[in-house]
Amino acid sequence: MKNFINIADIDKKDLRQIIDKAKLQKKTRSNLEKSAVDPNSPLADKTLIMIFEKPSTRTRLSFELAMKQLGGQLLVLNPKQIHYGSGDESTHDTAKVLSQYGDIVMMRAHKHKNFLEFSKHLDIPIINGLTNLSHPCQIMSDIMTFEELKGPISNKKIAWLGDGNNIVYSLIEAATKFNFELSIACPTKFKPDKTIVKWAKSKNAKILITKNPEEAANLADCVMTDKWVSMGDKVKKKKKKKLLKPYQVNKKIMKLAKKDAIFMHCLPANRGEEVTNEVMDGKQSVVWLEALNRIHVQKSIIQWCLK
Ligand code: CP
Ligand code: NVA
Repeated sequence: MKNFINIADIDKKDLRQIIDKAKLQKKTRSNLEKSAVDPNSPLADKTLIMIFEKPSTRTRLSFELAMKQLGGQLLVLNPKQIHYGSGDESTHDTAKVLSQYGDIVMMRAHKHKNFLEFSKHLDIPIINGLTNLSHPCQIMSDIMTFEELKGPISNKKIAWLGDGNNIVYSLIEAATKFNFELSIACPTKFKPDKTIVKWAKSKNAKILITKNPEEAANLADCVMTDKWVSMGDKVKKKKKKKLLKPYQVNKKIMKLAKKDAIFMHCLPANRGEEVTNEVMDGKQSVVWLEALNRIHVQKSIIQWCLK
């Protein structure tokens, strides 16, 4: 059974196929209306069950549209309205029941540990729609977006400024698999997960971790950031934001990157904190395309899992 939980678990060849199929499927439906169902409906008779422990706009909508455009069905569950996690049904039993009803699950979970526990009991594939640890679907969509605009990502320089969070975790894994240079600038206190950095380095990934935002942004092909405080982040917000202030992506930072560099943000954004309006709404920003491409990558991931 093929689960899509973390980028590190998946073969380079398969990851490349997922991106290329997403690009191809986007192209083949470029003349269709937004809501049109693909004529060959490859996911007819398939049902995706989605569970959200945390809010979502893009992940929810893009998975929903991906299923609809490919002719499939979907069910969205709010964990507060089902027995999962309430203590009156075990994770095992809920997983076994969902395996009877659906063909594939997508889950957004607070704790990666709980996500893994749930996945073990399922008899159908599961996709990670974000946990505290990682957000692989987002990074796959970002790679597609980068390549659509700037060609192969291999050997390009990606700069990350800000919190060493779940998005960076998946970005580090992707740097290893897609062979791009990754420069991460963050305060010591908010460095990315040590285990994944160690793993990436053992695979000869080109990763630099620095406290200096200018060094990371220097001659980058792409500058990325994310909210300083993630959903469910149990931190002293004011203190964290103060430490992260020097890592804001603004005009000065974008000037250090290559002239034709792009700016990416997975969204939602806190304008005026990790990014200025000027950059978010500026010519180098590709944030809306990033959001759109989630649909195309999601389709490709679902099809990969079901193959
Ligand atoms: N980028 C992203 O996953 O957004 P949502 O939280 O809106 O799903
Ligand atoms: N790091 C953010 C990503 C949101 C898509 C969070 O986990 O809240």
